[in-house]
Amino acid sequence: MCGVFGYVGTEANVGATIISALKTLEYRGYDSWGLAISTGDDLLVDKETGRINGQSREYPRSRTGIGHTRWATHGGVTPANAHPHLDRGSRIAVVHNGIIENHAALKDELQRRGHEFASETDSEVVAHLVSERLASGDTLPVAVGQVFDRLEGYNAIVVLDREEEQFAAAKTVSPLVIGTGREASTIASDAVALRGHADRLIYLEDGQLAVASAEGVVVFDRATMREVEPFSVPMGQVADDIARGDFPDFMSKEIAEQPATLRRLVDEARHECAALARAIASARRVLLIGCGTAANAALAGTYLFNDICGCEVTAVPASEFRYRSRYLDAETLVIAISQSGETLDVLEAMAEARRRGSRLAAIVNTANSSLDRMVDTRVHLRSGVEQCVLATKSYTAMLATLLMTAYELRGEGDAGAALVRRAADAMEAMTERGIARQAQAIGYRIAASQHLFAVGRGIHYPSALEAALKIKEVSYVHAEGFASGELKHGVIALIEPGTPCLVFAPDDVTRTDIISGATELRSRGGHIIGVGSQSDSIFDDFIEVPDVGEATVIAESLPGQLLGYFAAIARGNDPDRPRNLAKSVTVK
Ligand code: G6P
Repeated sequence: MCGVFGYVGTEANVGATIISALKTLEYRGYDSWGLAISTGDDLLVDKETGRINGQSREYPRSRTGIGHTRWATHGGVTPANAHPHLDRGSRIAVVHNGIIENHAALKDELQRRGHEFASETDSEVVAHLVSERLASGDTLPVAVGQVFDRLEGYNAIVVLDREEEQFAAAKTVSPLVIGTGREASTIASDAVALRGHADRLIYLEDGQLAVASAEGVVVFDRATMREVEPFSVPMGQVADDIARGDFPDFMSKEIAEQPATLRRLVDEARHECAALARAIASARRVLLIGCGTAANAALAGTYLFNDICGCEVTAVPASEFRYRSRYLDAETLVIAISQSGETLDVLEAMAEARRRGSRLAAIVNTANSSLDRMVDTRVHLRSGVEQCVLATKSYTAMLATLLMTAYELRGEGDAGAALVRRAADAMEAMTERGIARQAQAIGYRIAASQHLFAVGRGIHYPSALEAALKIKEVSYVHAEGFASGELKHGVIALIEPGTPCLVFAPDDVTRTDIISGATELRSRGGHIIGVGSQSDSIFDDFIEVPDVGEATVIAESLPGQLLGYFAAIARGNDPDRPRNLAKSVTVK
């Protein structure tokens, strides 16, 4: 869950280039950062804890360097544990993403041979192992390939060699993308960091090894060390607007983008939804998997397929998938939902499904991500880069995709597309009516509370889960979502006078029962925040969400997003970078 970046080329101010790339990668980890720049006869290293504020720093002129943003796994958050890690002679510098599962044994072995360690990380072993191989006469590619083969677990490493002015890189599962261009060869954990430097992108595969110098990039098969023709795409495909513009943060920008991203999805992805519907129709069993917000979207999908086409679909959190996968077969379709397409639990689940002969599909935002490359059928969410750690616009696009696919399956694709457009209009109307002001007032109240409970029934149950997730992960107020019918079975014991209760009460079959559940919450003193198209006398606060039929589930995501946002602001939290979280969870 770290971000790596490497540059070798003609740019003389590589320090500033690295800093700017690391800022783009900071969503992957932001507890510390570092860089190493080749100055010809030495490596200049700058490492710090906290967010990247090095924009005003002066670095020596250089054309080669690597950088890293860290999300600590092994070793505390200290400058020494920040990457890059160097060998004894400061010839090489290493950045790493992943967990080296056998690092203790490797470290032990190295210490017995006299190596001294400067950090508590698992990553540092790579620097010492590579330097030993270089000392014994190996070239950088051979040394890095051999050392990488000794690492257990899912890892991506980039090793900079100051003497040769080149870097070598290898990966297993953890992503690495190489940029090629006239001016430089670059590498990063995410293509987004290569903008402005690359004309084409090479997605490095497991089992390969890449070597980059100012002259270009060569990719080898690691087992044979024979050169291979890598899979590459033009950089243009990832050209999105990544600037924050006039918004104070990415979370508010990405929330505001939702009507536009939903419309883009309807305009561009209908044929992909239709293809996914055909894959569903030809399968005997369909599973939806995902993590975090995507797991909530998967659960919503089970209701959408049920409600729209009477079709049974099962949702499983990707991290639980392997414990209930024995019945998978060639007639099963597994659909993974993921913004990044790099979440490790999702990739592992899909690999397991493939081993069992199942068919694979994805609903994914990041084109060419690892998930995207492993499936037969895909819908791209087209939400643009989502930089805030919290998923917002990608969530509503996931819901819209599921809804449109269910309508395609029913043979009424136009009606599904029209509903998503209505959800986009509804979100715009809510914004115009001043939902932000209202959410700000309620968000401040939530910020002062210890707990919040969100309840819904039917398709609105996943909405309750997602609203609670949004609120807790960014405000740190304890928030839980429940199926309203479960209230009496325990949750109600936690309601005290003043406890905020977010009640999804739309104008559908769930309304009567949800109002009755809310009445019970209120009689225990709960402060009821109703969400729906019509108010009710038991609501203390009411957030209006227009009724747009089955697409209401999309529109009603907005209140939870905004309540979380304003509760975070009220508490002085950074909405884009909540504590302890990373956007892309590429470790277990
Ligand atoms: C992390 C993020 C969440 C996200 C989840 C799954 O936990 O903080 O916002 O929902 O990963 O990510 P994915 O990229 O697979 O959708």
